[in-house]
Amino acid sequence: MSDSIEIGSNDRVFVLTGAGVSAESGLPTFRDNNGLWNGYPVEEVATPEAWAEDAERVWRFYGMRRRDALTCQPNAAHFALADLERELEERFFLCTQNVDPLHERAGSKRLIHMHGELFRSRCERECGRGDFSDERIYQSASEIPRCECGGRIRPHIVWFGEIPMEMDRILDELDRCTVLMVVGSSGMVHPAASFVEWANRRRVRTYYIGPERPLNSVSFTQILLRKAGEVLPGIFRVSQSG
Ligand code: APR
Repeated sequence: MSDSIEIGSNDRVFVLTGAGVSAESGLPTFRDNNGLWNGYPVEEVATPEAWAEDAERVWRFYGMRRRDALTCQPNAAHFALADLERELEERFFLCTQNVDPLHERAGSKRLIHMHGELFRSRCERECGRGDFSDERIYQSASEIPRCECGGRIRPHIVWFGEIPMEMDRILDELDRCTVLMVVGSSGMVHPAASFVEWANRRRVRTYYIGPERPLNSVSFTQILLRKAGEVLPGIFRVSQSG
């Protein structure tokens, strides 16, 4: 494939990003370490069952991730997507599986975190009251705050077995895009891994960008096997004609 993605005046671009887009900022991807997630088996920290069993361990894990994310900076890929949004305005939509805040730090605004946000917390009972910005690190069970309803405050993160956030809006945007671009996602976790199939039903152009083939690679019309930060700046050719 040529190293450019043409975007005409009638195009609407839907971008899905995964952990790979933040790799060049120094955040490890999930499946880097033999199926371990930052050193922990996923089922010990990222499931409702883990929370029920040991909330303190879950919070220690997310405290560690908060610490890592506080010090890292957006990379060239995040900035390239924010620049594209400025050009396309409402014809651009970004859905990220990442919980880090690097897209918004780079300037992205039309953005949904389908798996939640690292720097938010919410009530375990989903009472609708305890959902707030939160950079604190909780080390012990006694530090875990309570919502005014009495429920414990949990990470905002969507865990395995839970339903991703804002799926209605995401599906609406998928239904009207003409270009789908997936950046740095292994294609292993659904429903995000199915977005390319949904887009293919409407025969839109689909691109994958990342250094390795994702599990769902056969579904893409074009694949660019390179790092996001190297390839995204300068790849878009935005024109005023169709
Ligand atoms: N640029 C682009 N892609 C990269 C880069 C890079 N510099 N470095 C690594 N990658 C790619 C890897 O090749 C891999 O395909 O990023 C992908 C990361 O895959 P995963 O670690 O599986 O991350 P992701 O697909 O985002 O995981 C999805 O799974 O654990 C859950 O909820 C969690 O949101 C996460 C979801």
